[in-house]
Amino acid sequence: MRKPLTLVDVLLVLALFSCSSWIVRGSSLCKQTNLGETRPHSVSITEFGAVGDGVTLNTKAFQNAIFYLNSFADKGGAKLFVPAGQWLTGSFDLISHLTLWLERDAVIIGSTNSYDWPVVDPLPSYGRGRELPGGRHRSLIYGRNLTDVIITGDNGTIDGQGSIWWGWFRNKTLNYTRPHLVELMNSTGVVISNLTFLNSPFWTIHPVYCSQVTVQNVTILAPLDSPTTDGVDPDSSDNVCIEDCYIRTGNDLISIKSGWDEYGIAYARPSTNIIIHRLIGESKQSAGISIGSEMSGGVSEVHAENLQLFNSHTGIRIKTSPGRGGYVRNVYVSNITLANVAVAIRFTGLYGEHPDVFYDPNALPIVEKITFKDVTGNKIKHVGLLEGIKGDNFVNICLSNIALNVSSQFPWNCSYVQGYSDLVSPETCEDLKEKIYPEHSSDCYQLSSYLWSSGNQRRGYQWLSW
Ligand SMILES: *[C@@H]1O[C@H](CO)[C@@H](O)[C@H](O)[C@H]1NC(C)=O
Ligand SMILES: *[C@@H]1O[C@H](CO)[C@@H](O)[C@H](O)[C@H]1NC(C)=O
Ligand SMILES: *[C@@H]1O[C@H](CO)[C@@H](O)[C@H](O)[C@H]1NC(C)=O
Ligand SMILES: *[C@@H]1O[C@H](CO)[C@@H](O)[C@H](O)[C@H]1NC(C)=O
Ligand SMILES: *[C@@H]1O[C@H](CO)[C@@H](O)[C@H](O)[C@H]1NC(C)=O
Ligand SMILES: *[C@@H]1O[C@H](CO)[C@@H](O)[C@H](O)[C@H]1NC(C)=O
Ligand SMILES: *[C@@H]1O[C@H](CO)[C@@H](O)[C@H](O)[C@H]1NC(C)=O
Ligand SMILES: *[C@@H]1O[C@H](CO)[C@@H](O)[C@H](O)[C@H]1NC(C)=O
Ligand SMILES: *[C@@H]1O[C@H](CO)[C@@H](O)[C@H](O)[C@H]1NC(C)=O
Ligand SMILES: *[C@@H]1O[C@H](CO)[C@@H](O)[C@H](O)[C@H]1NC(C)=O
Repeated sequence: MRKPLTLVDVLLVLALFSCSSWIVRGSSLCKQTNLGETRPHSVSITEFGAVGDGVTLNTKAFQNAIFYLNSFADKGGAKLFVPAGQWLTGSFDLISHLTLWLERDAVIIGSTNSYDWPVVDPLPSYGRGRELPGGRHRSLIYGRNLTDVIITGDNGTIDGQGSIWWGWFRNKTLNYTRPHLVELMNSTGVVISNLTFLNSPFWTIHPVYCSQVTVQNVTILAPLDSPTTDGVDPDSSDNVCIEDCYIRTGNDLISIKSGWDEYGIAYARPSTNIIIHRLIGESKQSAGISIGSEMSGGVSEVHAENLQLFNSHTGIRIKTSPGRGGYVRNVYVSNITLANVAVAIRFTGLYGEHPDVFYDPNALPIVEKITFKDVTGNKIKHVGLLEGIKGDNFVNICLSNIALNVSSQFPWNCSYVQGYSDLVSPETCEDLKEKIYPEHSSDCYQLSSYLWSSGNQRRGYQWLSW
């Protein structure tokens, strides 16, 4: 039955075209305001006595160079050039309006002496170090309260020499939580691009309490069995764009967080507007993209598209627990290709791990409006292990156009979840069997107008001509 086009249909079509011109463009979606090309001043680290022999400790040279460049901060900023060489250093601090630029064969190497990584206060949203009570070692490259910071180059390398830290972690001789390789705290306008990051002691790139962060065209590597060497962890940060990255590490490739239990609830700084595009990677022990388990400040508006994940434990995972509070809502993951991944989609409602005994077990997280669309894959064991929380169902979980080649006899296992699906193979669990279209599409995040989806234009057209 055809009905004539109404004004609403026409408006929908207009919306389709104005919107898809934004979606379909296909090139960078990260909006960069400043790539630092205009920095009027530049110095080389060698002008400050640095020696690139891999043996000389250059912490002072980095600190002195950056102190000197501070005088250009209000004159358009400056560039610190790191030429080819092996530049051993301890932790150093960045400043605003700075570009740290690494030449192709430049390697900044983290010291293996833990005293070269000073101990700083725990994050207020965690209340303590993530691994041990008390402070935490400061990251190798650190910045706080900054604006307009760029870490880039011609595929130079930042190597944390993490294996010594993994050893201390494994034999329990750490005194404080391990450091990240790069941490920017409370900063706005951060670009990290065109570099390779190796062997972080702990999470590799950690923007926390930041806005307008771009991570683009970076390679992040750590052994597949190294402990919690996450790739990029946007934490209580907004407007984060991660694009064109290859990540192969010991833990989650990207992990979106926002604080831990009562500390994260009190700090109340969410992660929102997180865009992930064209991520390729491998995580034998963990997930391609995870949200949580620390999500007490809330996580919302996550858009992840065009992902290729292989040889991994999990594709996409949401982890939380009673006590976390907060929310995970409005998450849209689409166009994922998986190969040799044990679990494509996983929700864990009873993750556990609390900072101390003072968390409120009645602080239940809200998980809602999570959409997965256009997922294909081979050599998959389970499509969905979706475990919500008793008395706190995860709702409006929507699955559209999922086709996986699965080896397990139990491709799905769902509890305390509710949602809708359309074109899912193998057939989904009972809790998600109700059809999305037409009447539930508005319960689903980003599926409310079928017309907007670029991958389903033909079927969208059918809707239009109804
Ligand atoms: C963040 O930085 C701004 C300005 O640089 C400062 O006013 C504010 O107190 C800082 N907050 C934290 C938590 O560091
Ligand atoms: C950042 O801002 C906070 C709050 O104003 C302040 O306590 C801290 O000392 C500042 N840190 C740096 C490195 O500027
Ligand atoms: C990615 O970075 C490399 C250097 O690391 C550069 O040659 C290449 O042009 C960059 N690609 C994009 C799309 O920026
Ligand atoms: C950058 O270097 C890494 C490590 O050597 C390499 O895997 C990657 O392909 C390089 N990227 C570019 C764009 O040259
Ligand atoms: C613990 O590991 C570190 C780093 O690998 C090593 O130097 C140290 O000897 C180990 N200590 C013990 C007690 O095993
Ligand atoms: C931990 O503290 C002990 C005693 O001060 C010290 O000998 C050891 O080197 C420290 N370990 C690390 C990894 O810093
Ligand atoms: C990465 O490098 C390419 C090639 O030099 C350059 O065009 C691009 O602007 C750089 N990207 C960023 C974000 O710095
Ligand atoms: C899906 O992602 C792949 C890369 O993983 C890309 O080549 C392809 O163009 C994307 N498809 C759509 C419809 O965006
Ligand atoms: C699943 O396996 C079949 C037969 O082995 C193959 O034809 C099909 O392309 C595979 N599907 C995907 C999504 O790779
Ligand atoms: C499904 O998951 C529950 C825990 O959430 C577990 O007890 C049960 O054994 C699983 N069932 C199957 C068939 O794997």
